[in-house]
Amino acid sequence: MSVLAGKRVLLGVTGSIASYKAVELASTLTQLGLEVDVVLTRGARQFVSALTFQSVTGQRAYVDEDLWGAEGHVLHIGLGKAAELIVVAPATANTLAKLASGTADNLLTLTALASEAPLLVAPAMDGGMFEHPATQVNLALLKERGVEIVGPESGHLASGLEAIGRMTEPARLAGHVRKLLGRSGPLVGQTVVVSAGGTQEAIDPVRVIANRSSGKQGYALAQAAIDLGAEVVLVSGPTALVSSVGAQLVSVTSGREMKAEVVKAARKADALLMAAAVADFRPTRAAKEKIKRVEGAPKVALTANPDILEAVSEGRKKFGKPRVVVGFAAESENLLENAAGKLRAKDVDLMVANDISAAAAGFEVDTNQVVLVDAGGHEELPLMSKAEVGERVLARVVEMLEKLK
Ligand code: PMT
Repeated sequence: MSVLAGKRVLLGVTGSIASYKAVELASTLTQLGLEVDVVLTRGARQFVSALTFQSVTGQRAYVDEDLWGAEGHVLHIGLGKAAELIVVAPATANTLAKLASGTADNLLTLTALASEAPLLVAPAMDGGMFEHPATQVNLALLKERGVEIVGPESGHLASGLEAIGRMTEPARLAGHVRKLLGRSGPLVGQTVVVSAGGTQEAIDPVRVIANRSSGKQGYALAQAAIDLGAEVVLVSGPTALVSSVGAQLVSVTSGREMKAEVVKAARKADALLMAAAVADFRPTRAAKEKIKRVEGAPKVALTANPDILEAVSEGRKKFGKPRVVVGFAAESENLLENAAGKLRAKDVDLMVANDISAAAAGFEVDTNQVVLVDAGGHEELPLMSKAEVGERVLARVVEMLEKLK
């Protein structure tokens, strides 16, 4: 089960045109397995209804009248206590002012005042209102108190202005929510390095030797580590993916660049997860100029790339870090046998054997089918999403780190 499942988040929605985007945020958080209680202010209800939120969260959404309803005067206490995190998105200048001053004149601000949960606010307002000294002072005060302020972003505003004031997009906000929820996870204080994607080896300034790795599996591992509270360094080959909120992204192109960055980061890492598909060979010499077609097909001599895990193993013997190393083995035949061989040869604690011949598994797709192989045996996992594979692998990492304590 996902580590997010069942965690309770209170989403406060205030009166901004961006409140329609809060519906997408509520839906995204619900799909992640979170229990989302929504509280709408009177202003928010001018733009969007409680029913809209109820439809996407499957939970009751609350409005000011509920404060005087069946739950009596304690509704805000109950909601505030149950929340592991309060998110106010969009947060208007008015609500930010109330949160800063401790004004509690509606269900949302009462709940925020009554709760000890961490608070995330995503301001949304017109440019002038955001720049106004009163708003800036309120934001500074909230920040000083440890409130997480995300955005606003620059761009087109409802007034027609091109200015700062747009609410951060729901997908990004959901990333911040995950990072904050991870603060109570078992990997807090631990550094996890993840390599992802394929490397590219230059033939000439235009052409490269590449492979089909999309980076999806590696990025999913990085997200799973963030959900558990880890500090994550994501060393990534070229990919179209956006890295998770909370990951320190290190972009590389070639296998040798990846080696330099992974080896550097691994020296301080508690765990290293090598999901990258590193090119085993590179052109011995990359042509300086574009190779001309009229000159005929070139002969490209190849040289073996350095093995990154081998270099990590040498460093590990000297510095004792990373404490845990996980390799991935992409195999099209003799899955278990080959993975077990690589487990020993590459000095890793766990090898994730990836059957790339299986339908809907391996490169590019959103699902994967793997076998977890270690010195004690193997565990076959069914076909699942790459996010779930990430969670299962990270659960093993947590176990291994625990044993080393
Ligand atoms: O990115 P996706 O599209 O989501 O696809 C995911 C994936 C199939 C790429 C991923 O799940 C996977 O299997 N990654 C490992 C691919 C691979 O290169 O396997 P390998 O058997 O060639 O290498 C074994 C291990 O050695 C790997 O951990 C690899 O990162 C590492 N290696 C390989 C070559 C090299 N020069 N140095 C290394 O350290």
